[in-house]
Amino acid sequence: MGILVLPGTTRAVAVARQWVGLVLEADGWKSTDDAVLAASELTANAVRHTYSGTSGGRVTIALLGMAGDQVRIDVIDEGGPLVPRIMEATSGALSGRGLRLVAELSTAWGSNALAAGRCVWALLPMNHDQVDEWQ
Ligand SMILES: Nc1ncnc2c1ncn2[C@@H]1O[C@H](COP(=O)(O)OP(=O)(O)OP(=O)(O)O)[C@@H](O)[C@H]1O
Ligand SMILES: [Mg+2]
Repeated sequence: MGILVLPGTTRAVAVARQWVGLVLEADGWKSTDDAVLAASELTANAVRHTYSGTSGGRVTIALLGMAGDQVRIDVIDEGGPLVPRIMEATSGALSGRGLRLVAELSTAWGSNALAAGRCVWALLPMNHDQVDEWQ
């Protein structure tokens, strides 16, 4: 449905959120909040935990409509020493909830190493408008 490349700043997270909502709505997807939230968490992770967040770094967000009313969100970062993993639930912890949330919202998620970075993806169950017949 679309692909967006942004500088890896905290501002990118807000921009990604708006862009994902607008693109999904324009494409006829309903109730986009969960997808927007998942994209927001994945983009924040790329900015915070990878070289995407260093000077000149970029983060790429791609949206793909899939069969069976699912939307795939890909967030591509520029890599680094860390690996995405769901943290142990600790009630007092201020962080470590993002991927747990993504896992709960999605039917599947995962991450793939790329030549120069990583793609973290999530598959969101969603509803789509009836497609009108061509007149
Ligand atoms: N794109 C990524 N590349 C490398 N490591 C990652 C990436 N995303 C997440 N991680 C690692 O996985 C951990 C868990 O991510 P998660 O989003 O659940 O928590 P957090 O980002 O630390 O905190 P929160 O999302 O609650 O602000 C991170 O602390 C980081 O070590
Ligand atoms: Mg996070």
